[in-house]
Amino acid sequence: MGISVWVRRYRDFGVENPVLSSGSRLSEDLSLAAEEWERLRQEVAACTACPLHRTRTHAVFGVGNQRADWMLIGEAPGEQEDLKGEPFVGPAGQLLNEMLKALRLQREEVYITNILKSRPPGNRDPKPEEVLACEPYLKRQIALVAPKVILAIGRIAAQSLLKTEAPLSRLRGKVHRYAATPVVVVYHPAYLLRSPAAKRQAWEDLKLAFRVYSQVSQGNPWTN
Ligand code: URA
Repeated sequence: MGISVWVRRYRDFGVENPVLSSGSRLSEDLSLAAEEWERLRQEVAACTACPLHRTRTHAVFGVGNQRADWMLIGEAPGEQEDLKGEPFVGPAGQLLNEMLKALRLQREEVYITNILKSRPPGNRDPKPEEVLACEPYLKRQIALVAPKVILAIGRIAAQSLLKTEAPLSRLRGKVHRYAATPVVVVYHPAYLLRSPAAKRQAWEDLKLAFRVYSQVSQGNPWTN
């Protein structure tokens, strides 16, 4: 990705652009991106913007390909994620890996993160003020990855990302936008573990996401 694309991405997402120069070579772009990733990771690890930092074991930053076409955004770390410092490593994560395989994707090819970087005690729903406190980190991650498609995993992730209170039933099956990036809302794998009958609909969500990805990656913007 050239510097101009990177600069534009930051502007699109309404975050301050850390790269002030232009006309730099690709290797410089990459090392600037690497520096920004590292700065961001350290900021998240040290973050005390909401009270969740007091109860977390690890801040859970994100994993995967930092220049992925697919970005997956879940709700918040659970117990195992908090212990390991990595998103989606528990049973829901294993099902998420299977969902990725259905899209012919390996976990390492995509970028995975959450709306919240710290675990809410007892896995309660995130509070609006926690979502707001974490939002700048997510914005910067999305701008850096610059994915072709975002999968919002589950109701809370979808509502937080899209700033809506619409129920999941109204959010699934449509293509939304985060800035210019198409967003497809999918069932949370934890829900699918409890309700396996919904897997058929989950497959429809994934097929929609794949159609969007195919179109966008051929250079044709998605239009609803
Ligand atoms: N559920 C989420 O939404 N995120 C995780 O990282 C794990 C479970």
